Amino acid sequence: MEARLTIHTEQGMGTISKRLYGYFSEHLGRCIYEGTWVGEDSEIPNIEGIRTDVIEALRGLGIPVLRWPGGLFADTYHWRDGVGPRQERQPIVNVFWGGNAESNQFGTHEYFRLCELLGCEPYLAVNMGSGSIQEMADWIEYLTYDGDSRMTKLRRANGRENPWKLKYIGIGNEAWGGGGKMRPEYYADEFRRYACYCRSFAKEPFYKVACGPYGGDTHWTEVLLERAGDMIDGMSLHYYTQREPHRGRATGFGEDFWFDHMELAWKMDQFLTDQDRVMSRYDPRKRIGLIVDEWGTSFEQEEGTNPRFLEQQNTLLDALVACIHLNAFNEHNDRVHMANLAQTVNVIQAVLLTKGPQMIKTPTYHVMEMFRPHHQAERVAINLRSPLYAYHGHTVQALTASVSRHQSDELFVTLGNCDPYCDVWLDVEAGAPARLCEGRVLTDSIWDAHNTFEDPDRLHPVPFDQVETTESGCRILLPAKSVTALRLTLAQ
Ligand code: AHR
Repeated sequence: MEARLTIHTEQGMGTISKRLYGYFSEHLGRCIYEGTWVGEDSEIPNIEGIRTDVIEALRGLGIPVLRWPGGLFADTYHWRDGVGPRQERQPIVNVFWGGNAESNQFGTHEYFRLCELLGCEPYLAVNMGSGSIQEMADWIEYLTYDGDSRMTKLRRANGRENPWKLKYIGIGNEAWGGGGKMRPEYYADEFRRYACYCRSFAKEPFYKVACGPYGGDTHWTEVLLERAGDMIDGMSLHYYTQREPHRGRATGFGEDFWFDHMELAWKMDQFLTDQDRVMSRYDPRKRIGLIVDEWGTSFEQEEGTNPRFLEQQNTLLDALVACIHLNAFNEHNDRVHMANLAQTVNVIQAVLLTKGPQMIKTPTYHVMEMFRPHHQAERVAINLRSPLYAYHGHTVQALTASVSRHQSDELFVTLGNCDPYCDVWLDVEAGAPARLCEGRVLTDSIWDAHNTFEDPDRLHPVPFDQVETTESGCRILLPAKSVTALRLTLAQ
C-alpha cells in the first residue's frame, strides 16, 4: 500500500506551543494521593512529600503545564481547606469520586511546589459550581499579591513569603454538566461576573479560560462567544475517546473495539475544525485560544478497583489515540493554545501507573516523550495522501502526520499508522534528498500490548531505520499499528 507526505519546507505555519503537551491532575482516585503525593514520612522516596520517581518521569516529558485540582472536583473544592499546617487540615467528602474522605493534605502550597519541582506552569481551575466570587478573589489575592493584606498575612503565616507566578485560570468546569447544569446563556453571564473579579495582582494579566463545550457541540460555543467573547482569552473543550453506552475494558478487545477507538480519536480533528469555524465568526484573528483541557481514552475500570477511581490499563491502542490527537493539535496550532491529557497518574489515560513504591511508564508516556521535539518548534505545512483503514463498511484515514523544525535544514516528523494489519510505504517529498538522523518507533505484534509491574518495559520505542533516501526526500516503511518519530536532514 502506497502513501505520500508532501512537506512544504518553505511554508512555516507558526509555533507549536509546548502547552499542547500539557497534563491534568485531579483529586480523583489515586492520581494525587499515592500517585503523586505520599507525604514526607512515606517510605517511598519523595521530595517534600511528592514522589521522586514521578517527578523524574514527568521531567523527562518536559511537562509544560499542569491543570489542577479538577475536573468535577474543582467545583466542590474550597481552597482554604487545603492550606495551613497539614495536621490541622480537616477532611471533606469527595462527592464526585467515590464519596471517600479527601484529606486535604495536598493543597495550594503542595501543588505550587509540585509545579516548581517539575518546572511547569500552573493552571488553576476555580470553583464556580459551589464556590463564590469572593472565595475566588481571596484565593487570587493569596496567590499573587505582594503587599500586606489579610490574605498575604495568611500566606506568609503558612510559610510562603513571595507570591507565586500564575497565568492560566479556568472559571468553571463542565458548567453544562456536573459543574452546575447551566444553560450557555446563564454561564456566559456568570462568566462575565467572575471574570470581572478575576484580576491578577502581578504585572502579567491572567489568561482566563471559559468553560467551553464537549466535543462537537457548537451551540454552546456560539452563545458563549456572542455573549462573553470580549472577556475570554481561552475556551475549553473536553472530549473523551469512549464508546457508549458500554465503554469496554482497556485490554482483551477485538478489532471492532480497535477500529471504533481509531474512529473516535479521529473525531477530535473534526471537532477542532468545527469549533474553529464557529470561533472565527466571533474572533477571526484567532485571539481566543481553544484549550483542550481534558482529552484521552476512557474505559471501564480495571477489575477489583473502585469504579469511581477510573483506573485503566494503557496499551498500544492508547498510543495510537494519543498520536492522532497530538498530530491534530499540532495541525491546529493557530487556534489550539493548550491541551491537557486526562490524566497524569493512575487515572484514565495516564502516562504513569503506580503500585506502592513501583512506577511504570505507559505507552502513552512514550508517545508524549517521542513528540517532545515539537515543543516550541515551527510547524511546517504538509499534505498527506493516506490509504484508508476499512472495517465492516466504515473507514478512517490510516495515517496521521505532523512536521516541525527548529533549524532550517532539520525536520522533525511524527507519524502514526492506525491500520492494525497493513504496513505502509510512505513517500516523503521534501524537495531534496533526506537523510535520517534519528528514528524511533513504538509498535508491537499485539494491539493491546502494554506494560505491567512485572514486565514494565514490554512496550517502549526502539530505533527505527526503515528509511531509504530518494531524490526528493525519502521512503519510509511504517509498520502496522505504530507510532514513529523521525529527525530528517535535507541535503542543501
Ligand atoms: O477526568 C475525569 C472527569 O471527566 C472530570 O472531572 C470532568 O471534568 C470530566 O467529566
